[in-house]
Amino acid sequence: MELICDYMRDEKSRRALNELTRKTFWFDFEGWVTGGFYEGDYIPYSFIEKGKIIANVSANRMTFEQNGVVKNYIQLGTVMTDEAFRGQGLASWLIKHVVARYENECDGIYLFGNLDAAGFYRKLDFKEGCQYSYRVKDEYLSLGKAGAAFRPVDAADSEMKKRYQDAVRKSAVNSSFEQINKYGLQLFYTAGMENVFYAEDIDCFIVAEREGEGLFLKSVICGRKAGLADILKRIGGDIKACRLGYTPLPEDMEMCHAERFDGGDDYRFFYRGDELESVERDRLFFPALSHA
Ligand SMILES: CC(C)(COP(=O)(O)OP(=O)(O)OC[C@H]1O[C@@H](n2cnc3c(N)ncnc32)[C@H](O)[C@@H]1OP(=O)(O)O)[C@@H](O)C(=O)NCCC(=O)NCCS
Repeated sequence: MELICDYMRDEKSRRALNELTRKTFWFDFEGWVTGGFYEGDYIPYSFIEKGKIIANVSANRMTFEQNGVVKNYIQLGTVMTDEAFRGQGLASWLIKHVVARYENECDGIYLFGNLDAAGFYRKLDFKEGCQYSYRVKDEYLSLGKAGAAFRPVDAADSEMKKRYQDAVRKSAVNSSFEQINKYGLQLFYTAGMENVFYAEDIDCFIVAEREGEGLFLKSVICGRKAGLADILKRIGGDIKACRLGYTPLPEDMEMCHAERFDGGDDYRFFYRGDELESVERDRLFFPALSHA
């Protein structure tokens, strides 16, 4: 058994990683890397035996602008051990190794653990925290329509696709807790243009999904700051609720309710380092499209 790391551009090792991610989480990295969306901020640490990856923990370099201050965090992800090798201490060894590697050169280490694995992270001395989830107050859902309505971006429109990709790179900070190096993860979720909409007059993209009669507004991508009211006025049809997948800008806070959020049925937020206590204290919400 050998430890290998940071090999995403090596086809043979990447394919071995893909095999375990498909088996464990039903996805792989192939299209993301060959499509040019991987930019080096995803760093796998894996045990390999006879050409097969049997356990992995990945470090994601995350640079945020957090209430105007730049913070460098590491988000752990793709934590997995092949079923045949579980219970031998492999995943916990890899986590300790990655934590030791990065803890003195970043502002904190965190991850979103699924509910089944929460006990595993507690054993590894991660602290459990809460975020704050934001939804638009009812009175701001009916501001009236103005400007050009958001229209779905056609996945076959290569010019618009390119424009979206460029905009992701150059977007202004549109939240109080914005991932600056968002290109890789944002495109991991949206390279196929699913749920991407564009409003021409303000040259703004949003990523949004219907939730019953409401909307989950996951991301705002715009060269200039786009206010929440300007976005809501351009959303077609009636929406009865709007949940945000990000922390609103200070000037839009008044339009939103904030609620303490432990991850519900989906995940728990675990962290190391006092700096990340700021997430709960300052009522922050990690961008929905920044989860590794
Ligand atoms: C969670 C997972 C990565 C653990 O891998 P592993 O290599 O078997 O873990 P380890 O052998 O290092 O376990 C370390 C300790 O955690 C415990 N542990 C492992 N999985 C656990 C779980 N789901 N809940 C509680 N404790 C757990 C082990 O019993 C062991 O305890 P011990 O030190 O007292 O003996 C593995 O079960 C897995 O791949 N699960 C499916 C994918 C997944 O859910 N990943 C987490 C995504 S957030």
